[in-house]
Amino acid sequence: MSIILGIDVGGSGIKGAPVDLETGEFTADRFRIPTPAKSNPKNVAKVIAKIIDHFADELDDGPVGLTIPAPVKHGVVPFIANLHKSWVGVEAKKFFQDELGRSATLVNDADAAGLAEVHFGAAKGHPGLVILTTLGTGIGCAMIYRGVLIPNAELGHLELDGHDAEKRAASSVKDKEGLSYEEWAVRLQRYYSHVEMLFSPDLFVVGGGVSKDADKFLHYLDLRTPIVPAMMRNRAGIVGAALAAKDAVDHPDPLDPVVNPEANAPVV
Ligand code: BGC
Repeated sequence: MSIILGIDVGGSGIKGAPVDLETGEFTADRFRIPTPAKSNPKNVAKVIAKIIDHFADELDDGPVGLTIPAPVKHGVVPFIANLHKSWVGVEAKKFFQDELGRSATLVNDADAAGLAEVHFGAAKGHPGLVILTTLGTGIGCAMIYRGVLIPNAELGHLELDGHDAEKRAASSVKDKEGLSYEEWAVRLQRYYSHVEMLFSPDLFVVGGGVSKDADKFLHYLDLRTPIVPAMMRNRAGIVGAALAAKDAVDHPDPLDPVVNPEANAPVV
């Protein structure tokens, strides 16, 4: 099973493609449907079903990987900042498996991007601690140590100077407040210096749509840690979702009640 469908659920679009996990390439063109105005699990599941249908000729009924802009603890979403609040507490993995009639793995969107960069992109094969941040509507974060993902690092919500960090330093805030790259970089500096102090990473990778303009702001940052733009661009979420789905097959989560009914772990 080296081709798996990855689907990236974002605030404005839901995008999918079959991914060749040997190369990280798509085996067919990406297909995108706008995120429904009411982005609750039921409506999102309908869109995902359409994307699965779209690729019906290329894929069997194998597993699907889904990103979501929220932490996912053993298949459950404990809180959500930038999508419909009705996701909270839903056994999302079970819900999607029931709705889609196939094995589904949910993974945080930034964790997916981190997996993609460590497997195929800017942090490929890195032997130390990589922290990937995605700068977009919010700030997403992935921590990967020696290739192993430490999931759900919500460092976009660090409280800094009395603010939720993403409310000051996400790229959506730059746009909303009309900041220049140089002005925005002051906020990024405050953010990355703090994360650097807390975790002493070996490498920062900067993802999210704005990473294509990395040459306009990364040079303003003064950090001890190397900081580089992500390479996977808008493929990161889809590729990472497919990688997470493969990993869930190879290493089933023993604390996930869908995988192990004995687990009975209180997750929210
Ligand atoms: C969410 C994270 C997500 C990030 C980027 C944050 O608000 O809490 O889970 O990774 O936004 O979408």
